[in-house]
Amino acid sequence: MKGAVSTLRDAIRIREVFEPISPRLELVEQFFLRELEGALPMVREVGSYVLGGGGKRLRPALVLLVSRMLGYSGDRDVRYGAVVEFIHTATLIHDDIIDGSDLRRGQPTANRRWSNEITVLVGDWLYSRSMDLCLEYGDVEVMKRLNAATLRMTEGEILSAHVRGRVDVDEKLFMDITRCKTAELFAAACSIPALFEPSTHRYEDHLRQFGLDLGLCFQLVDDVLDFTSDQEEVGKPVMADLCEGRATLPILLLLERIDAGTRKKIEAVARDRCFEAISEQELLDLVQQSGVLDEVRLRAAALAEKAAEVARFLPECREREALIGATQLLLKRRK
Ligand code: IPE
Ligand code: IPE
Ligand code: MG
Ligand code: MG
Repeated sequence: MKGAVSTLRDAIRIREVFEPISPRLELVEQFFLRELEGALPMVREVGSYVLGGGGKRLRPALVLLVSRMLGYSGDRDVRYGAVVEFIHTATLIHDDIIDGSDLRRGQPTANRRWSNEITVLVGDWLYSRSMDLCLEYGDVEVMKRLNAATLRMTEGEILSAHVRGRVDVDEKLFMDITRCKTAELFAAACSIPALFEPSTHRYEDHLRQFGLDLGLCFQLVDDVLDFTSDQEEVGKPVMADLCEGRATLPILLLLERIDAGTRKKIEAVARDRCFEAISEQELLDLVQQSGVLDEVRLRAAALAEKAAEVARFLPECREREALIGATQLLLKRRK
């Protein structure tokens, strides 16, 4: 019952945070549809399947919220809201091929439904079309930021691929990968609205820092949810990271607290990509009893706090409070 009450409270807060921008979020959806209507039939089919599968639309919401906070009144917020979601979507569908994942947004991944070949190409199309959409408006500075974020994401996935199957990953390297693969796009989403008008350029650095901290927090929470959520709720597989060969922070911290024999079993899951040396339940018990999830949650909370502090340098208004509220929402999210 207590759970239901706090879920209700969170739902209300979500409405408070996103209400001001919901009509513009609707315009972002229409932008996707128009874009896909003009694309090749195969792009349209795969693109509408993935974009129509749901998704929280967090990155476009950040673009819209920050634009509103800065008093922007043109149409670039909707365009670039759609662009960041295009880039995010391209990364997700490539990521699902790389991770060999079967489920995304509660439905079979595009690579399972079609093929790796088509899915890679649709991802490429989304990236290229994103850059086109910047060029159509002659927004070279915005394009530079988005292209840099896309490059960092690719580098994050490359670094992650390089250490896949290994658990002897340095914590600093892990955090660098996290920044590249996730936080850089959050940073771009939060900071590009500062470039829409010359009078708001001065906010770019603080917005970028806000987005980086928020993005790191978001990914740490995602890594915790891999242990604590269920497939129905998050719409993607759980207890999957280690079995996909990725040792996330909870595992890296756990490894410091266990004996050599248990460590070998965990190494085997990452290396062999299956739960044989240790069962899923045994690993879950170890993780839960060791306290590492609380430690990662604390680190995520510290990042949310850091983001909220930097937000103090932004214009004081309702939207700024909504952004600060968003840091707490992302921390407490269940999906
Ligand atoms: C998933 O991002 C990828 C990560 C960075 C963990 P989201 O959780 O924002 O995915 P959707 O868009 O809501 O499906
Ligand atoms: C995040 O990595 C995906 C990217 C930002 C590239 P994950 O592999 O943890 O994302 P999920 O869990 O599949 O959504
Ligand atoms: Mg993945
Ligand atoms: Mg994940």
